[in-house]
Amino acid sequence: MLHIHQNVSLKNYNTFGIEICAKNFVEINSKDELTELFADTKWKQEKKLVLGGGSNVLFINNFEGLVIRINIKGITQTINNDTVFVEAGAGEAWNDFVNYCVDNGFCGIENLSLIPGSVGASPIQNIGAYGVEIKDIFHSCLAYELETGAFKTFTNADCKFGYRESVFKNELKDKYIIVSVVFKLSLKKQFNLKYGAIEQELSNRRITKPTLKDISQVVADIRVAKLPDPMTIGNAGSFFKNPIIDSKQFEKLKLEFPDIVSYPSGLNQVKLAAGWLIEQCDWKGKVHGNTGTWKNQALVLVNHGGATGLEVFDLSSQIIDTVSAKFGVSLQREVNIIV
Ligand code: FAD
Ligand code: EPU
Repeated sequence: MLHIHQNVSLKNYNTFGIEICAKNFVEINSKDELTELFADTKWKQEKKLVLGGGSNVLFINNFEGLVIRINIKGITQTINNDTVFVEAGAGEAWNDFVNYCVDNGFCGIENLSLIPGSVGASPIQNIGAYGVEIKDIFHSCLAYELETGAFKTFTNADCKFGYRESVFKNELKDKYIIVSVVFKLSLKKQFNLKYGAIEQELSNRRITKPTLKDISQVVADIRVAKLPDPMTIGNAGSFFKNPIIDSKQFEKLKLEFPDIVSYPSGLNQVKLAAGWLIEQCDWKGKVHGNTGTWKNQALVLVNHGGATGLEVFDLSSQIIDTVSAKFGVSLQREVNIIV
């Protein structure tokens, strides 16, 4: 029997540690529980928020609707020659799942070690780090359609993955709940070491023939050095996306700011390091009331304790304005703002 709780504090359900309250809250442990929940038509009309680990959300107000916390567990795999199809429940913690794959010798996911959150949220913004995005290893996912109550399978192409984008953030926003994801991994030791920081760190450790575990460990260590641990300081990782601009605008900026940090990004486009832009506007490590930017990574906004969602949001607006005034570049928020 499902239990719907009332007036639940979400402080421990969002990594920013914002103290707000959900009017209704339910934890879902299986596909059948989703069907059971929506058998009561009352919940169909209610405002809803699907929540995994809460590591990519910023709550502005109390949530006057139903928070559906996905806790569907389970990992199974089928092996076909060198290919492994691993299916994980949406409620598995992402990093536990990565560790499971690494421990079993399944390659392809190791560069995504130590990203917080759940398996079910991983396709939503096509999580990525250190030269890999989940679109590179995603096979399919099973999702519950809120409108009809039907379960539908989405292939990689169906998801329309892009940089921090998918169909679930755009035309299908708030229409599906992901219940499980299948990843296509490999038993072959083919590593993706093109990201400079990984190569550099392996070289520092004098590792010339890295194992799967070495790579996972190196990625985890690089991340720990740069990013604040949400268990001790509230944050949701990068607050903004790295902006993509056209080559002409980039050439002009490069003349004025020769040190600007950039990466090629498809035909006639350049991706800028938002962290660099924000640091150049003197925001890095700044404390701003209860909020601020992280001392080692200006792209990460933090809650120094007791911040409201509005304070963090206001800081992000000030950063957008100053970056726009100095560089003529418009930063887009990556974190989902929940109002
Ligand atoms: P939540 O925050 O709970 O939800 C995020 C969004 O997905 C919401 O819109 C929610 O409604 C929706 N959602 C969640 N679960 C489901 C579901 N089952 N079905 C449908 N919709 C769902 N991200 C990266 O890409 N790369 C990084 O390197 C990275 N580093 C980070 C480092 C830190 C310290 C932190 C705090 C965050 C970082 N992130 C990174 C962001 C975050 O970890 C990812 O976006 C992650 O996938 C969010 O998972 P979650 O379960 O916490 O999602
Ligand atoms: N930089 C600065 N100052 C800063 C931060 C960065 O100058 O304060 C410059 C440096 O030159 C640095 C470069 O920006 O070399 C890139 O920084 P970093 O390697 O930390 O990566 P990022 O572009 O800031 C992105 C992702 C991260 C992901 C890392 C590693 C986005 C929005 N962010 O950050 O993802 O972990 O690359 O691949 O794409 C997240 O999405 O939450 C997240 C943490």
